[in-house]
Amino acid sequence: MADDLLFSPFHLKNFTLKNRLGVAPMTRMSGGATSIPRQDVFDFLVHRAQDGAALVYTEAIVTDYESAQGYPGQARMLTQPQITAWRGVVKAIQAEGSLAIMQMFHCGRMAWPEINPAQRSIAPSPITPKQDNPLTQAPYPVPEEMSQFDIDHVINGFVETAKGAVAAGFDGVEIHGAHGYLINQFLSAYSNQRSDDYGGTPDRRYRFAHEVIQAVNRVMPEDKLLIFRISNWAIADMEISLFSDQAEYQGIIALLNKEPLDAISVSTYDFRESAFGTDKTMAELSREVCDLPLMICGRIHDRASAEEALKHADIVLSGKSTLLNPNWMEDVKQGRKLEPFTSDQAAVAYTEKALP
Ligand SMILES: Cc1cc2nc3c(=O)[nH]c(=O)nc-3n(C[C@H](O)[C@H](O)[C@H](O)COP(=O)(O)O)c2cc1C
Repeated sequence: MADDLLFSPFHLKNFTLKNRLGVAPMTRMSGGATSIPRQDVFDFLVHRAQDGAALVYTEAIVTDYESAQGYPGQARMLTQPQITAWRGVVKAIQAEGSLAIMQMFHCGRMAWPEINPAQRSIAPSPITPKQDNPLTQAPYPVPEEMSQFDIDHVINGFVETAKGAVAAGFDGVEIHGAHGYLINQFLSAYSNQRSDDYGGTPDRRYRFAHEVIQAVNRVMPEDKLLIFRISNWAIADMEISLFSDQAEYQGIIALLNKEPLDAISVSTYDFRESAFGTDKTMAELSREVCDLPLMICGRIHDRASAEEALKHADIVLSGKSTLLNPNWMEDVKQGRKLEPFTSDQAAVAYTEKALP
């Protein structure tokens, strides 16, 4: 169909995506002591490529052995065995004509010190999330305010992890700047109360994100993708808007637009919701100040919602539908009637149950 935008190719830098649908990054906590995911978790990603996804994201990969990890069993890309383990998965995804993208993050104040070998929790400022850690039912510890040494060390973790992704053959990497994790903590005036060059005005709170992007970009080969994910919602303290208003959000997107990025991925709960008291969605507000390709995610569960989401974005990502329905891409293509899945249903992601 000539007018089937959803299943038409999209040019992203030097790549041609075969359609506009991708699998959103989803943490699975299957890695154990090796930080290498279980085989069925690898197979799950390959199955989504076989179902027709144009791009497949990994779970969020933890960027160091010190303080980055927030959940048990998370994966890393820092040792040769870890890189070697991912290589076959990446090849199998690419063999289906799909792109493989690695997402990476540092949890900052959302870290769980006991599961980090160096047992630290670090953040822009010593401010704890208001909620307890849902996995321990205990309050998060007060994080240490990051020193300049810590900042440089963490940036280096992003760089080393990106190098691991390149060595594993990934088509690109995404810097996770969303959901209230470390980069987002720097961006938000609530969690960043620093008085040095990394805190204060939005431009200064943006500085850490800028330094991460620039440092990672320096080690990315010219033919690979560099993507940044952003959101206005967080895993903890959801009642606090990360960006104070439309101007602040659009100011940050405008700064990202000047970076050596190939796309921005906007994460929402529901792509249709209007944002910051305006009548516009997060995608629309992003588009107004950004000419980079945009990805959008949040409650895109069938063909109608995917097509609607494409009005203000170039690529749509789905989380729960791709997690729980192994034929989602094909079902969308056929226009089959589909219902959204709930977060409770998605909790199976963290169990030992192999997903088809
Ligand atoms: C099990 C699970 C794990 C997730 N892990 C991550 C993650 O590692 N990184 C990330 O950026 N988002 C993560 N998310 C959020 C999804 O990428 C997506 O933004 C969210 O599920 C909303 O999209 P949906 O309505 O299509 O599910 C996760 C979501 C689920 C359900």
